[in-house]
Amino acid sequence: MAIELTINGKPVQVADEPDTPLLWVIRDSLGLTGTKFGCGMAQCGACTVHLNGSAIRSCITPVSAVAGQSITTIEGVSENGLTPVQQAWIEEDVAQCGYCQSGQIMSATALLAYNAAPTDKDIDDAMMGNICRCGSYPRIKKAIHRAAELAREVK
Ligand code: FES
Ligand code: FES
Repeated sequence: MAIELTINGKPVQVADEPDTPLLWVIRDSLGLTGTKFGCGMAQCGACTVHLNGSAIRSCITPVSAVAGQSITTIEGVSENGLTPVQQAWIEEDVAQCGYCQSGQIMSATALLAYNAAPTDKDIDDAMMGNICRCGSYPRIKKAIHRAAELAREVK
């Protein structure tokens, strides 16, 4: 039986088995490959998407658990141009290989949605589940502070 979801603001129906990880539905059934597979065990954060605005690990989330709910992937995070997080990521030249970065951006975006001026500790706490094998952590932290500034300037 088809499962209905809202992905990036659009209603979709998928025919995957109910226990299929949301990550496979996003990547294989819907072709949205910006969300990455890393560990498959909720350890690395590469697969991070938003469920109703909160960061979740799509590799361990069965698609049936999010039926009828709103999912945002990296492809849908920006409606018009760059978000403050994306702008800050460019300004601070965050990415190295880039593999972890869509998950990093999704976690950072979720953090700033509920904490407009995070401290270093807030950032460490919110981002600890996102691993970067290239070690871009210092630039990620700087970029999150910069994104918070940019978001305040827009308001
Ligand atoms: S692939 Fe989901 S946390 Fe690593
Ligand atoms: S930029 Fe390479 S894994 Fe993070």
